[in-house]
Amino acid sequence: MTTIHQPSVLALTGVEKVYRTDKLETLALSNINLTIAAGEFVSIMGPSGSGKSTLLNILGLLDVPSQGGVALHGKNVENFSDKELAVIRNQEIGFVFQSFHLVNDLRVVDNVEIPLLYRKGLSGAERRKMALEALEMVGLSSRTKHFPSQLSGGQQQRVAIARAIVGKPRLLLADEPTGNLDSKMGDEIMNILHTLNTSHHATIAMVTHDDRLAAATDRIIRIFDGHIVSTSVLSHAA
Ligand SMILES: Nc1ncnc2c1ncn2[C@@H]1O[C@H](COP(=O)(O)OP(=O)(O)OP(=O)(O)O)[C@@H](O)[C@H]1O
Ligand SMILES: [Mg+2]
Repeated sequence: MTTIHQPSVLALTGVEKVYRTDKLETLALSNINLTIAAGEFVSIMGPSGSGKSTLLNILGLLDVPSQGGVALHGKNVENFSDKELAVIRNQEIGFVFQSFHLVNDLRVVDNVEIPLLYRKGLSGAERRKMALEALEMVGLSSRTKHFPSQLSGGQQQRVAIARAIVGKPRLLLADEPTGNLDSKMGDEIMNILHTLNTSHHATIAMVTHDDRLAAATDRIIRIFDGHIVSTSVLSHAA
């Protein structure tokens, strides 16, 4: 049998993450070995405190492991300069944070434009057009001039999603992107993620507590107490 090597977007090897505070040490991740292939849509499940957000932050190059290696497109992340990392985070990676992280004194449309501000060669009009398109995708065209505090939790979540997808990232990391949404809106967000995955070939890792949404992805990674306890490839996956 020949071995097929899918190009891996991300590869974690022996990753461990320890959080240290004054008196306490928390082993948030332990011996994580995980490869995500280009074009995959992976879901990450597990109980509260099991390390899902920690894992996503490391996958998104927002945090570094205490031990172990992270490779992006086969290149060890330690070898990237800070400048290279900043460009990669801005141009290649979209991130939906569990707590949204919206800028409260910026209007919705300006929040969505933030990732585009660091892209060279885009005019203000082009940025605005892309932001309005992303807001339309998440069903928020009527709220573009509002401030985040004037929106419901689910609407703020959709602004965070619009901001993550506005630059058409090749890698999207989403921490419970449908957590505060009703099932209809959750399905619409999933449709957007599936479109990004299939039409734009984005690689996606999504944390979710929803078995139904996870079942529609290519692979479910379950973590418990900082360990990967199972990986199920779903039969509809290619
Ligand atoms: N900055 C931090 N400092 C200290 N401990 C932390 C920090 N962030 C997370 N932890 C701890 O690491 C463990 C994993 O946290 P993490 O946020 O990754 O869990 P999670 O699976 O995302 O949980 P949830 O479903 O509640 O979001 C928890 O025990 C948490 O208390
Ligand atoms: Mg979390």
